[in-house]
Amino acid sequence: MSTPEEQEKLVNQFVEQFPDIVEEADYDELWGNQLDPKGSYYKESIAKKLATKFLRANRWDLELAKEQLKNTLIWRKEFNPLSAGFREKHDEKFDVLGVITYHSEQTVPNIKLINWNLYGNVKEPRTIFEDLPTFMRWRVGLMEQALQMLNFEDDTNEYMVQIHDYKNVAFLKLDPSVKKGSKSVIEIFTSYYPEVMSRKYFVNVPLILSWVYTLVKTFVPKETSRKFQVLSNSKDVGSSLGDLVPTDYGGKGKKLEDQRFNFNKTGREAVLSDYAAYLLQKQFTEELD
Ligand code: HEM
Repeated sequence: MSTPEEQEKLVNQFVEQFPDIVEEADYDELWGNQLDPKGSYYKESIAKKLATKFLRANRWDLELAKEQLKNTLIWRKEFNPLSAGFREKHDEKFDVLGVITYHSEQTVPNIKLINWNLYGNVKEPRTIFEDLPTFMRWRVGLMEQALQMLNFEDDTNEYMVQIHDYKNVAFLKLDPSVKKGSKSVIEIFTSYYPEVMSRKYFVNVPLILSWVYTLVKTFVPKETSRKFQVLSNSKDVGSSLGDLVPTDYGGKGKKLEDQRFNFNKTGREAVLSDYAAYLLQKQFTEELD
């Protein structure tokens, strides 16, 4: 384990190399932030925070962190995740599977933003997972929306919480498409979204499916699974996250659907970083030309 001084030195060394990494990947954007200091949207404090996340995920190994960042940028150039989050219209069938809530009044650090995944609402898994690329664009889009609500200049809101609620899981034999779908999401998130989750809760896991937890954990690095907690009672979420969560989850808040952060109504300007807004506008203009 490196000392805070060594860590600071590594962060500075890493940030100094951002221009080279950007050039190699031929892409200059991470989670809506510019990485090249020559750019007019660049912010050093954010660059340092992003560098810290990649270093931490790689146990402070600079070479591994550089490699992961480069691969992330190459993937972003190809996948265009900002478009998935803020430009593309996704099939409404996905709406019941994911909700983002944001409690600005939350005082405990890094639990303001919660990404709820309600895969128990999948009645027929094939209809969701069979067309994996389409599901992936929706799922990555949701992740990008959530990321825009974190603030990498605020140590109390630089991580999100994820809750998997498996209430009403209708099928007790796991469909192969579910295994394939969840594996793909996990791979993408592990590779390209390091250090964005503070905690993960799994609730309403039917006893008969507890083995799935053991299976899925094998796809996930130990650093991630350390943040997992299976809660036998969904009301226990409130004991961990406080009163702001819905009453169904043991809090005193409104129903989950009524707390859903609505990106369309709020207007993307409200949540998008200036750089993300600029890039999306540029994509839009280029398509028109
Ligand atoms: C991850 C779907 C059942 C445990 C995931 C993911 C999907 C998914 C799509 C990818 C991660 C994400 O979207 O953020 C489903 C479906 C299920 C099911 C449709 C219906 C039967 C279960 C059960 C458990 C479980 C019963 C037991 C606790 C996990 C774990 C992860 C995961 C541990 C990894 C979390 C992570 O690293 O982000 N699941 N799952 N799943 N699921 Fe499930």
